[in-house]
Amino acid sequence: MHIAFSGGTTPALFFDSLARQEEDPATRTDWNRIHIWWVDERCVPHDHPDSNYRLTHNHLLCLLNPGHLHVHPILNNPPDEECKRYTDEMRTITATPEGFPEFDHIFLGMGEDGHTASIFPDRMDLLSTDALFAAVTHPVTGQSRVTMTGKTILSAKRVSFLITGASKASVIKKILLHEEEAVKYPAFHIAAGHTDIDWYLDESAALLIKHLCHG
Ligand code: 6PG
Repeated sequence: MHIAFSGGTTPALFFDSLARQEEDPATRTDWNRIHIWWVDERCVPHDHPDSNYRLTHNHLLCLLNPGHLHVHPILNNPPDEECKRYTDEMRTITATPEGFPEFDHIFLGMGEDGHTASIFPDRMDLLSTDALFAAVTHPVTGQSRVTMTGKTILSAKRVSFLITGASKASVIKKILLHEEEAVKYPAFHIAAGHTDIDWYLDESAALLIKHLCHG
């Protein structure tokens, strides 16, 4: 089984929850059956506070038996070089007829500008490229990043959005209600392009669509 995690801050809550489940044999995950990949990464060393790998390691991986782990970190090589290397590594995953790796489950976040992965609104071309992975620059900070592309994400069997924070509420509403403005958000196109999407929102993020929520 192949899964891919995103970065940012929200995943820490998810990783902490997975870590708590390890405390009870009845809820432990059989990590030996799972290959862990990343949706995107900031081009920094793994010990840098911005590293998505560091986030996953510090909240989850460091608590697991390393002998049972199959981890595929994105390395801090020059961006274009790492895109090629990670693309080659992802080709070890069973591919769809279109030639994209078929992940079993991809976990995404969303920024308040509607970006997901590191597909920002100024790079909508990454939703349609045939490249599996791409080098980008954060439009505000200028930080170099590498990211899965839209077609790679949409080739997954299942995609889940994990989103927290009131600052996302307006964008979530526009996306889920298919408002005209939503087409400028990369997250809208991922949500619209997959048949098995679920949304895990905290109360703040769900503020404007509570009437649509279950549980
Ligand atoms: C990253 C993520 C990015 C993140 C959103 C939401 O590397 O930053 O992949 O897409 O999911 O920016 O981040 P928060 O969870 O911090 O709001």
